[in-house]
Amino acid sequence: MGITEERVVAVIMVGGPTKGTRFRPLSLNIPKPLFPLAGQPMVHHPISACKRIPNLAQVYLIGFYEERDFALYTSSISSELKVPVRYLKEDKPHGSAGGLYNFRDLIMEDSPSHIFLLNCDVCSSFPLPEMLDAHKRYGGMGTILVVKVSAETANEFGELVADPITNELLHYTEKPETFVSDRINCGVYIFTPDVFTAIQGISTQRKDRANLRRVSSFEALQPDTRNLPSDFVRLDQDILSPLAGKKQLYVYETKDFWEQIKTPGMSLKCSSLYLAQFRHTSPHLLANGDGINSASIIGDVYIHPSAKVHPSAKIGPNVSISANARIGAGARLISCIILDGVEIKENAVVIHAIVGWKSSIGKWARVQASGDYNAKLGVTILGESVTVEDEVVVVNSIVLPHKTLNVGVQDEILL
Ligand code: GDD
Repeated sequence: MGITEERVVAVIMVGGPTKGTRFRPLSLNIPKPLFPLAGQPMVHHPISACKRIPNLAQVYLIGFYEERDFALYTSSISSELKVPVRYLKEDKPHGSAGGLYNFRDLIMEDSPSHIFLLNCDVCSSFPLPEMLDAHKRYGGMGTILVVKVSAETANEFGELVADPITNELLHYTEKPETFVSDRINCGVYIFTPDVFTAIQGISTQRKDRANLRRVSSFEALQPDTRNLPSDFVRLDQDILSPLAGKKQLYVYETKDFWEQIKTPGMSLKCSSLYLAQFRHTSPHLLANGDGINSASIIGDVYIHPSAKVHPSAKIGPNVSISANARIGAGARLISCIILDGVEIKENAVVIHAIVGWKSSIGKWARVQASGDYNAKLGVTILGESVTVEDEVVVVNSIVLPHKTLNVGVQDEILL
């Protein structure tokens, strides 16, 4: 560890069960941050990226899931990374900045000079050391990772305008109705500890307003903030918007991949991006098909060591097979996530699909979709313990847990 001033702490906001509704039916079984992408829990990818930060003292996960949900994972990743990774449970949602503020005393225990703050539900190469260097050059309170997206999709995110020479953040609007910019907030930040003073300022303003006996006409026009509790502070609307143009915030643009993971369909796309990244960062995690009894492997594939794949199966590209799955003779798997304990019987085909825990796909059955990640039914999703009987065809559908399908379905959500 270098001099004390250099210590860095990373905080990953993991949210809680009520925030995971768009991720159903997969979030019925597992907290969304632990859902496997490329065979590793979603939160594992930002955590491993933190390993590259010089003088990293701690990683905190802040959320309102139960502590026991994360206990096993945090203890195993702490020993793997050799950096303590600790889960901190909020008693209620405090918003993305309020959650951070809630644990300020703990976070400041290591006297960090810098604090990384990462959303858990984004998929990125997380260029954190590069951001830290840029942040030190800019000399502000915070630096935001930004990416260019298509003008049509920009309004799903925080849109921003920055000075092309100094990189200062000049203007910030969260999910605006009219187009502002195709540069958006990636949900990855670095701050100096002064961020706590900024959050405290918003919280105090709220308290003062709540104490005002009459609501001003200006307040009445702000339905967004009027009823928020003083300890609920959103990083984007409450901190970034008002501080834009005040020489406190800067941007660092990534040209590398970046996606948001709000839906099960997007998790399949992000799994493929992380598998591709493994070629450079963790090639040992990719199946190579070299063994005498290995199945044919095409492109990027992850197979858990406990899974059993028949040598005549053909797997890939973009396939992740979790623990204890069994893949039968002649099965064909393309672009899919096969979760723990799934059985895929002989000659079944799975394309653009996520097959839930302990599900079973019968002989010659087909489970497939168009592969349009942004469409509601573009990826077929089977919840836990779904049985697709022999020769049944399931196309562009979502099937909730514990169903048995003995006839074909297409473009359906089966509750
Ligand atoms: N611990 C905790 N407590 N986490 C929270 C809370 C909270 O009260 N509220 C949100 N989060 C976490 C979510 O789990 C997610 O990882 C992150 O904070 C941001 O979630 P939201 O506040 O719901 O915002 P968003 O995802 O719709 O949009 C944000 O991220 C985009 C990038 O993915 C915004 O900052 C956008 O501007 C940005 O483009």
